Amino acid sequence: MAKNSVYIETYGCQMNVADSELVMSILKTKGYELTENINEASVVLLNTCSVRDNAEQRIYGRLGNIKRYKDKNPQMVIGILGCMAERLRKDLIDSKNLVDLVVGPDEYRRLPEYIDTAFSGEKGIGVKLSRTETYDDIIPYREDGLSAWISVMRGCDKFCTFCVVPFTRGRERSRNLDSVVEEIKELSQRGFREVTLLGQNVNSYNDNGRDFADLLAAAASVDRLIRVRFTTSHPQDLSDKLLYTIAEHPNLCNYIHLPVQSGSDRILKAMNRTYTIEHYLNLIDRARKIIPGVSFSTDIISGFPTETYEDHLATLDVMEKVRYDGAYMFKYSPREGTKAYRMEDDVPEETKAKRLNEIIDLQHTISYDLNQKMIGTDEIVLVEGKSRKSDEFWAGRTDTNKVVIFPANDEIKVGDYVKININRATSATLFGNVIEIVNTVGENVSLTA
Ligand code: SAH
Ligand code: SF4
Ligand code: F3S
Repeated sequence: MAKNSVYIETYGCQMNVADSELVMSILKTKGYELTENINEASVVLLNTCSVRDNAEQRIYGRLGNIKRYKDKNPQMVIGILGCMAERLRKDLIDSKNLVDLVVGPDEYRRLPEYIDTAFSGEKGIGVKLSRTETYDDIIPYREDGLSAWISVMRGCDKFCTFCVVPFTRGRERSRNLDSVVEEIKELSQRGFREVTLLGQNVNSYNDNGRDFADLLAAAASVDRLIRVRFTTSHPQDLSDKLLYTIAEHPNLCNYIHLPVQSGSDRILKAMNRTYTIEHYLNLIDRARKIIPGVSFSTDIISGFPTETYEDHLATLDVMEKVRYDGAYMFKYSPREGTKAYRMEDDVPEETKAKRLNEIIDLQHTISYDLNQKMIGTDEIVLVEGKSRKSDEFWAGRTDTNKVVIFPANDEIKVGDYVKININRATSATLFGNVIEIVNTVGENVSLTA
């Protein structure tokens, strides 16, 4: 076992996936090797999530597991990164005699120092949040591939009352636009075909007056064969300029993740979401007018404090009205330190679960119906690789982020854009036949590579 081999496991949102790539890059420049085998590692890092209690419980479970490796190899350094590190800090070191270092999202530059200190037998904690750190100058470590996550903002200033993110990630700050464009240029040269720009609330991106629409336009112009996606949009600041920008660029995907959280204005107010359902539905209408064929996904929370059956029905109602292509659906989980934590968690567990199931069932039906309507249509699909279930089928994704499965064919390579005629659909997957290799993201765009 080499003293400098690092194994890292990533939990939580894509922001953490992007941060792990940043961490790997920082460690590699300091001479560390990466390993995918925990048995070979001298440093084991978990990049963690605090968003709901079950996310944290999962990490505790995994730590119990990792203890076995450390028992075999007492020199092993165990580190907690990410949102749990920021939230629980010293408690993580005190509660188990296992964790050697705790480093939060704004202190990754100093991670190599903390690891050195840990090797010399001292515990280390680095959890200062920064108002300025964006890691602009660090190119994340990425394996070759098709798809990359690019974090364009850090932190969040929205303070939704249920949410721990503003506490674990600190204040909102935007990366320099040109540094994002440079990163996409490099990915283009390496043959990447898709980038997803990440932030907790990308619509409030601001680099000295250059807004998110400006960033998207610049990102899309780097390479017309790269699809540009983004997440997450907060309904408060989604501008018409942004919608027109998406409509204008064929490689800006017609897919918006626009979390509604609840269908009840009273609950939205208690959540500090800063919009009403009327505003939200108007926004959806405008987007559909400006971007024909745009699809939406959402996040929904069931059982927020004081949620009544009527509030719940209002959530089902907004789902029916919007008809989302997909949804991430959760039971409310009280998080210490948030404003909602001071409200009584008064919706019984069974009620939360029952409401959540109704939400999931409804979404399932809606996704199924929307997918059925796609039968007979042609879709341009980016070929990602063999399907999970069989080598005889390939898998790819549409512009609107739907998975499509189609028969393998010797002429097709990973990274091609192919036109597929859809002939079957479930609620989660489309199936079809290849019509032709088009190698454009849509009409009017020619192959540049
Ligand atoms: N910035 C993004 C989401 C970040 S967290 C946004 O504003 O949409 C992802 C999702 O987790 C949230 O949209 C919310 O639906 C859910 N979530 C956050 N805190 C939660 C909590 N305490 N309990 C249950 N779900 C929560
Ligand atoms: Fe959390 Fe709200 Fe910020 Fe999203 S916008 S990260 S839900 S506080
Ligand atoms: Fe989890 Fe932190 Fe992301 S709490 S959802 S890893 S920002």
